[in-house]
Parts: sequence; structure tokens; C-alpha cells
Amino acid sequence: MTRGTTGHNRLRRSDRWIATVYGPLLRSAALPAGGPPPLVVDLGYGASHVTTHELFTRLRRVCRTVEVAGVEIDPARVAAAKPYEREGLSFARGGFELPVARPPLLVRAFNVLRQYGEDEAWEHWATLRARIAPDGVVVEGTCSEVGHRAVWAALGAEGPRTITFAARFTGFERPSSLAERLPKTLIHRNVPGEPVHAFLADWDRAWATCAPLAGFGARQRWIAAAGLLARDWPVTTAPPTGGPARWRLGELTLPWPAVAPRGTAHGG
Ligand SMILES: C[S@@+](CC[C@H](N)C(=O)[O-])C[C@H]1O[C@@H](n2cnc3c(N)ncnc32)[C@H](O)[C@@H]1O
Repeated sequence: MTRGTTGHNRLRRSDRWIATVYGPLLRSAALPAGGPPPLVVDLGYGASHVTTHELFTRLRRVCRTVEVAGVEIDPARVAAAKPYEREGLSFARGGFELPVARPPLLVRAFNVLRQYGEDEAWEHWATLRARIAPDGVVVEGTCSEVGHRAVWAALGAEGPRTITFAARFTGFERPSSLAERLPKTLIHRNVPGEPVHAFLADWDRAWATCAPLAGFGARQRWIAAAGLLARDWPVTTAPPTGGPARWRLGELTLPWPAVAPRGTAHGG
């Protein structure tokens, strides 16, 4: 049991990313007339229902019929959220087994796996991947208290797909400051010899090289550093996850295999 820390707009950055990147998936699932509406689970929503409600509101803007179910292991938190249920938004007690009526198309789990061990985190990833719809996705990540620094992975049934770094431009010193928000499956791998460590070091170098652009604002510096980094790393440079339109929001996405832990069953 944890304190269940959460808060308004804490997950705004990942909500925005999910709506853009996976909105089309939700909409395509909503198409067959008479079929069940696309289902999204917010796992481990915390001491208040607010982030689940925000996810619901933001996803309804991109998919009119989407349903969101908040799932929490703590019964008191479920009882506290129940009064906020409405059409399309529900709350239930449960865990990684996901106690919902049909396989969700999308599972969002933020700041949940921090309290588990590295091996457990991999197991829970596998459990969630086995529970989603065949073309579904799990977005699992971690962020700072108010959400100014965040890192999340997107996993398909087949395995991890992408990793995304996101920051408020005034919320960090250098890109490697985001290391403290790495998913549990990676955070212990930020050591010399591991790809994620090399990646963050190169990103810091690109950031330093682009320092002269700071006069035009941190956004311009971020965009330039992302372009520079893309020469050596498979940073996504095209929509929906990459390119200047995403970089200008303080995001950077790359394929998971680029940072996968080395020399383990899970890595390259
Ligand atoms: C720090 S809060 C995160 C709240 C919210 N997702 C956020 O990021 O602001 C973590 C929550 O995960 C819940 N939790 C931990 N393990 C869980 C599990 N196996 N299944 C469901 N919820 C779990 C805890 O009870 C806690 O409320």
C-alpha cells in the first residue's frame, strides 16, 4: 500500500501523447456498429479519481464512445471514487489481472510499478500484455510529483515498442535529469555499459552542443538537440511520435530496442 500520491494534471503530458498517438486506434475500434465501445483501463489511479477523470475527458475528445475504467488495489480508494462514476467512466477494485468485462484496448499505469522490484516489473508487464486486446497497448510510466518530468514505455502484446521522455522546459537541468523517472524495468540499468546510459550521455552532449540556441528559448534548444541526437540514435523523427511537432512539446520518443537492457532475457 502506498500513499497514492496523485494530482490534477499530473499526467497531462502522457494523456496528450496517448490521445494523439493512440486516438486513431481507439477510433478504429469504435467503428463497427453494434460492437462494444473501446475500453481503456487506468490501473492504480491513486488516492483520488482525478487523473482517471482527466484521461476520460481527454480521450472522449478524440473518441466519442471510449469507456474508461479506473482499477485500484486499495478498496478505500475505490469507495472514494465510486461517487464520480458516470456514463463511460467506472471504478473497480483489482490489480494486474484487470477485472474488466472485455480485454482493454489500452491500459495506462502510471507511478504504480515504482514500488515493485525490477524482475516483478517485467512480470507485471508480461501479465498486462497478455490481458490487452490483440492490437492493444499498455502505457506504463513514471513522473515527478507535479508531472513536469515523465518517462513512459508503450508495450504491445508482442513486447515493448517505444520509450518516451517528456519534460517541461523549465523543469530540468539537462536531459539526463529524466533518468530518475525511468520505468522500473530500466532505472537500475542506467549504468556504464548499458544502452540507456549511453543514450542519456549522448543526449546531454547534444544538449550542451546546442547551448547557443538557449537564447531563443529552451524549446528551440530541445528541438535542435533532438535533431542532433537523431544522427546517432533511432530517435523517432516522423509523426505521430516524433519530429519537430512532438519535440516542441518537450517530448522525445525512440524505439524500445535502442535502450533495452543488455545481456538479459529482456534485452538486446
Ligand atoms: C502513486 S499512486 C499513482 C496514482 C496515479 N496513477 C498517478 O500517477 O498520479 C500508485 C497507486 O497504485 C496502486 N497500486 C499499487 N499496486 C497496484 C496493483 N497491483 N493493482 C492496482 N493498483 C495498484 C496503489 O494503491 C496506489 O494508489
